[in-house]
Amino acid sequence: MILYDQTNQIFHLQGLTFSYILSVYNGVLMHMYWGKKLPEGDHAGLFVLSGEAASFDPPCNRHPREVLTQEKGYFGQRSLNLINTHGDDVLSLRYEGHRVFAGKKKLQGLPASYVESDAEADTLEIDLRDALTGAAVTLSYTVFHDFDVLARSMVIRNESDQPMTLTEVQTSVPLPMDDYEIIHLKGAWARERFAQRIPMPQGTFSISSRRGASSHENNPFLALVKPHTTEHGGDVYAMTHVYSGSFSASVDVGIDAAPRMMMGLCSDVFSWQLEPGAAFQAPETLLTYAHDGLNGLSHRMHAFIRQRICRGMWRDQSRPILINNWEATYFDFNSDKLVEIARRGAEIGCELFVIDDGWFGKRNADNCSLGDWVVNENKLPGGLKTLAERINALGLQVGLWFEPEMVSPDSDLYRAHPDWCLHVEGRERTTARNQLILDVSRKEVQDYIIESVSSVLRSAPISYVKWDMNRNMMEGFSAALPAAQRMETQHRYMLGLYRVLEEITSAFPKVLFESCSGGGGRFDCGMLHYMPQTWTSDDTDASERVRIQYGTSLIYPCSSMGAHVSAVPNHQTGRTTPFHTRCNVAMGGNFGFELNLNKISEEELRCAKDAVATVKKLRTTMQQGEYSRLVNPLTSNGRSAWQFTDDERVIVCIYQDYASPNPQPWHVKLTGLDENVVYVDEAHGLRCSGGALMSIGIPVPRAWQDHESWIYCFEKA
Ligand code: GLA
Repeated sequence: MILYDQTNQIFHLQGLTFSYILSVYNGVLMHMYWGKKLPEGDHAGLFVLSGEAASFDPPCNRHPREVLTQEKGYFGQRSLNLINTHGDDVLSLRYEGHRVFAGKKKLQGLPASYVESDAEADTLEIDLRDALTGAAVTLSYTVFHDFDVLARSMVIRNESDQPMTLTEVQTSVPLPMDDYEIIHLKGAWARERFAQRIPMPQGTFSISSRRGASSHENNPFLALVKPHTTEHGGDVYAMTHVYSGSFSASVDVGIDAAPRMMMGLCSDVFSWQLEPGAAFQAPETLLTYAHDGLNGLSHRMHAFIRQRICRGMWRDQSRPILINNWEATYFDFNSDKLVEIARRGAEIGCELFVIDDGWFGKRNADNCSLGDWVVNENKLPGGLKTLAERINALGLQVGLWFEPEMVSPDSDLYRAHPDWCLHVEGRERTTARNQLILDVSRKEVQDYIIESVSSVLRSAPISYVKWDMNRNMMEGFSAALPAAQRMETQHRYMLGLYRVLEEITSAFPKVLFESCSGGGGRFDCGMLHYMPQTWTSDDTDASERVRIQYGTSLIYPCSSMGAHVSAVPNHQTGRTTPFHTRCNVAMGGNFGFELNLNKISEEELRCAKDAVATVKKLRTTMQQGEYSRLVNPLTSNGRSAWQFTDDERVIVCIYQDYASPNPQPWHVKLTGLDENVVYVDEAHGLRCSGGALMSIGIPVPRAWQDHESWIYCFEKA
């Protein structure tokens, strides 16, 4: 609901459990409040702005403005910076008007949250304008009736007859002075999204990606929590970017000791020429407040991402159990070898066989052929159609790997179009994994990708695509742009990529798309808008995966995480973990296999078959139920537990890194159950009230080996 108090010019945005309040004060849009839901009423008297002004700290420095620009002595970090034709960047935005309407508009060229009917949400648009320069901004706020997330975005317009240059575009939110801690998701390739929790500094904390992808290193997610906040209680203020390119996010503590949270484009790799009459659409940011701890944050974000970021036929469907040949064969395969792996997959109940890298051009190693999306008939005689029909005959659907944004210097595409890659004339074109990045900001490159991928998908019965992207941008500039606009390349690349994804996913609506970037290097709401799942990490080691999936689950739903059982010793860590543990951990996401099922023991094969049956029985709860974290492996000495709950059942997965002699007993306390309902887990002989399971918890059995794990499944009696 969006309430407007005309007398005091106060906007009160009411979500299911949060309130967000803005007011117009002397023409300036002020931020008044974000937090626990407030009742409708007159709060005006509480928003007293201190008029105190010291010569070094004029009011602009103290008062929490909604858009932070350089004016009248605001010295903090800015959320919007626009250099006008006079060469200065002073920007005095003043309120011009507003409107409230049912529904939500699309964002031009960008992924965003959406509504299925106008009755689902209300949107407030507020117009601000700088009288001197003609710079104008429209801020947009959408409140959903059934989801507890606030969607914010803005459009910046040049309403003058002179060009301007946009150099900073961030969504900022001031929070009241208080003690906070910062949570962010730090990582690297093969160890993505390890949740970090640190005290908020009296200064500036920032994370960013300049890589041209949201990155393995930092995820576009940031939360401020109170020091007492746990998984189950306490305040959380979180921001997420619906964008897949470079970004920055920060917490800037001003002289009032109050933090301002920000998230937006990374100004080191962004600037934009705003011509007279032109508009710039900033990416959307999602704001979530939870009073009920980190699980409260996750429940809100999971439901929202699953249903109002992800789209398409697969959004609400159970995801197929797949088997992927990458770690089973790498590049060394032919049709018969793939069919034999698929046959074993079919025998144990798998539903989809994914042909990973190496099926096209003359690609027998990672040093050639990206860009040449033509099947290698030496390896796959008769082409993809023949192979796909053989696999279909076994009862499996067929999936295919692409890396469409890339080009190998050793490829027909590169020989024909050497200027189609991102590069700087006169400098070495730095390769990574022997490849260059196509200049997806160019329309002809976008068209090439659309046509080359589409023609393969038309040529054979392909029902799943793994869309990979295996390096980051270096010399990341477009030769097609004039010098004054070269810094626009990264954002133009994202706009081009989003056009490509929109066209391909709409042309093949039945295909399940999974995005990947060397694992989870582009795991963000932008990609999830086009592809409802992401390959979480190239690291399939069960022990590492517990941590990776645990951190990822802070915001991303389990239905968005690819999770596979792979061979031991693990190819990324050399570690050996029990087969059932690899299965139990992979059940925390979209379950699959990434190993040669013909090379495992009979006992392991039986275990794999049991796991497939379990996933088929329980996957609606695991993929669409409510997911809660119970024990954090990063702070509990390698012990971990998580829980899935829906109306039918409660599933608990418990994991322990190390066995120890004479171990101290431990219990895993469940959450969110009905106190007085009796829950039964027949396999473990447990029959207990929800109250007891939450207050006493499941007694964890003694582990007689390292990397032990257990699955409990309770039904209501
Ligand atoms: C990336 C992906 C892997 C695999 C390889 C193929 O590393 O993350 O899963 O597809 O590419 O080259």
